[in-house]
Amino acid sequence: MEWIKEERYRRLEDTDPEEISSLAARVARCPWRQGYHIQPETGLLNDPNGFAFFQGEYHLFYQWFPLGPVHGLKYWYHTSSPDLVHWTNRGVALKPDRDFDSHGVYSGSAIEHNGRLYLMYTGNTRDKSWDRMPYQCMAQMEKDGRIHKFISPVISGPPPGYTEHYRDPKVWRQKDCFYAVIGAQRSNLTGCAMLYRSIDLHQWEQVGELHTGLSDFGYMWECPDYFELDGQGVLCFCPQGVKLNDPGNIYPSGYVVGDPLDVETGDFRHGNFRLLDRGFDFYAPQTTLTPDGRRILVGWMGLPDIVYPTDDHGWAHCLTLPRELRMEGGRLYQVPVRELQAIRGRERFMDGKISNDTLSPSGFSGTRYELIIEFNNVDAVEFGIGLRTGGEERTILVCNTRESRLMLDRTLSGRPVAEEFGTVRSCKVNPSEVKLQLFMDTSSVEVFVDDGREVFTARIFPHEESGGISIFAKGGEVLYRANMWDIEVEGAN
Ligand code: FRU
Repeated sequence: MEWIKEERYRRLEDTDPEEISSLAARVARCPWRQGYHIQPETGLLNDPNGFAFFQGEYHLFYQWFPLGPVHGLKYWYHTSSPDLVHWTNRGVALKPDRDFDSHGVYSGSAIEHNGRLYLMYTGNTRDKSWDRMPYQCMAQMEKDGRIHKFISPVISGPPPGYTEHYRDPKVWRQKDCFYAVIGAQRSNLTGCAMLYRSIDLHQWEQVGELHTGLSDFGYMWECPDYFELDGQGVLCFCPQGVKLNDPGNIYPSGYVVGDPLDVETGDFRHGNFRLLDRGFDFYAPQTTLTPDGRRILVGWMGLPDIVYPTDDHGWAHCLTLPRELRMEGGRLYQVPVRELQAIRGRERFMDGKISNDTLSPSGFSGTRYELIIEFNNVDAVEFGIGLRTGGEERTILVCNTRESRLMLDRTLSGRPVAEEFGTVRSCKVNPSEVKLQLFMDTSSVEVFVDDGREVFTARIFPHEESGGISIFAKGGEVLYRANMWDIEVEGAN
């Protein structure tokens, strides 16, 4: 279906409730609904927003267009969880109902202060000629969950020297001040991040641009996030229009690590840009701190401008599982949060040796599970694992020992997605010992490689019956040990 502008900017509040309930019923019948990932009841989900711990619970909001699988008029939808695993849908948090956010409550973040949760977001507006003007806005959530917007934006419009692409404030506290980074585009059409400071979250002053070593790196930086980990400064962002070695990845989401940011001057000395994820469907991540001091990241499991098979069923996208970050050797490692162990169900174990063979171990199958598999003592040329196998379908993780590469191949995963951007993604590994921890849900897989050194995130769209698992070695042998747990979450949405 072609979506005209009027349809994309239709308001949820002006829509007949029957239309919504019939859309919700259509979505619920979709065979690719997830079992334990955050997903929209209808329409399109994109960036995670406002991720924070407040009043004894995690709050996680997301960008939402309720009426169909397209980027239309955006709302913030609210979910909450006591444990980062069991999420409850709490309904719309922010509607585009003011002059300063009339064309979308765009991405932003949250911070707790004086017993309230402050939500800082971009109000997207358009005038009659469809010219865009962004405002940085604030709302506050009370202990009882009520949310009020400030009467006017806290930062109005981009300063001179920057275009209308000025959005996605990420706020944090440092000593006695609050700071925010904002994704921006300079008038010369290069991307950057801006730094602001406030003492009360009401009055904001511009510190200036973050002075990075990346002065000509893409045309716009979306969703910046700055934090410190292990005494080092980390800037995550999504530079649009950057050409990487991996040509299929046209929506990179990555980070740089350096000395802590100088918040007085905006100076930030750092190393090379690295990707956060090696898979296909990962963008616009956001981090928060847990009460026990862990830095947790959640991303959007999807990409802009791509048609997904669920579109035909009236919805699109989900969020990734929360990942704990750690710093090792100047780079970020990501592992699934340990709370996810709580949803491990029936367990199976196997180990053995495979030599020039493919095994389909009995009892190892499913569509929603966690699997940890370690390979070692390798003399095979290739070894790996087939997932969601059945008929002609399979999703393959294969290690090529000669190239020291691990590849995720979704060529035959099921219904194709964005094939024009390639169907294989890869990363470097040490092939003599490879450990994979993976989370399979109905239509996604997240693969954590070697204790989080790399991650592959991918949507896949197999038939429900494709639940097989196979292990293989070619041109030699390999030892393996595998544990698998079914995942069942009560009340998952
Ligand atoms: C990133 C993004 C943000 C923007 C939001 C709108 O995916 O384009 O820059 O705030 O999505 O939904």
